[in-house]
Amino acid sequence: MSAPVAANPAFTPRIFSGIQPSGGMTLGNYLGALKRFAEKQDEGIETIYCVVDLHAITVWQDPEKLRHQTREITAAYLASGIDPARSIIFNQSQVTGHAELAWILNCVARIGWMYRMTQFKDKTAGKNAENSSLGLLAYPSLMAADILLYHTTQVPVGEDQKQHLELTRDIAAKFNHDYGVDFFPITEPLIEGSATRVMSLRDGTKKMSKSDPSDASRINLTDDADTIAKKIRKATTDPNPLPETLEGLKDRPEARNLVNIYAALEGSTPEAVIREFAGAQFGTFKPRLADLAVAKLSPITEAMNRYMQDPAEIDRILGEGAARADAIASPILAKTKEIVGMINSRR
Ligand code: TYM
Repeated sequence: MSAPVAANPAFTPRIFSGIQPSGGMTLGNYLGALKRFAEKQDEGIETIYCVVDLHAITVWQDPEKLRHQTREITAAYLASGIDPARSIIFNQSQVTGHAELAWILNCVARIGWMYRMTQFKDKTAGKNAENSSLGLLAYPSLMAADILLYHTTQVPVGEDQKQHLELTRDIAAKFNHDYGVDFFPITEPLIEGSATRVMSLRDGTKKMSKSDPSDASRINLTDDADTIAKKIRKATTDPNPLPETLEGLKDRPEARNLVNIYAALEGSTPEAVIREFAGAQFGTFKPRLADLAVAKLSPITEAMNRYMQDPAEIDRILGEGAARADAIASPILAKTKEIVGMINSRR
């Protein structure tokens, strides 16, 4: 092991997060990620939000659709209040440091760590895992690179990303240990609020997901008001009224999910929602939830549609964001290479 190289203990607080352009955005993405990304801008910490197109191609993507979805996620960022003057918004492939650092981290991380990831297991369940892309297995190492390339200290995500963030910490710690440095921060996951795991509207034990074959299981950010209201009306529930206390939602996953969604949309807490609706039947609660969802989501859908009218402007924002991201990433990548022992004599 070599002597410590330029230890960097004083990490400036910095937030980074990303969303895959591998399909449309769901209410889960909005409440678990997007809405919180926008709120983080008010905390006086630098915020960097990425559209992770390199992650998306770990499973096959039609090139035209990938371009469209990358713009659509960017439009969703803008529509939910992420301001390119206050945050950096860019797509991952425009900053080549992500792929470069990922390679270095691939050589630090162990294959066994990747096989243990539940998302990898879920995505290959019932399929021939040997036939999935190598990228799908290495995916969490690219995610660690996204985070560590900016010396990120905090990452807002939904519950499903927790294991990947723990792995990021392990990779950072192993790099620091192997090279005898204190170079990469041990990043903190921010999994906060009542909607860290929004569940399917058809099955309260399954995560709401863009890849669920049933469109009725999710609310898409592109759904119109009627569709949102219809999906909520038809959401699976049990026959009992809402309980008097939160305790009463135990073992009622569908009811719990709708209460959590209401609280997150309203910006309150599940306790407050239960206080307001104690004893109410779903026949009363669901229309109220539908009204709230439409009131909160429609302006976002409309703004997304407006942004999507001008793809050139979206591309300009991504390009400008990529240049700003690269300015932060480049010296960190250069230092990483120096620590690893690579020569950089090209000036
Ligand atoms: P992705 O694209 O699957 O999801 C983006 C964000 O949305 C959250 N999310 C949910 N939150 C609550 N309930 C749900 N049903 C729900 N579904 C999705 C996710 O937790 C996530 O925060 N690997 C990541 C993308 C990524 C990333 C990163 C994130 C790549 N590099 C670096 C943070 C930092 C992913 O596939 O997210």
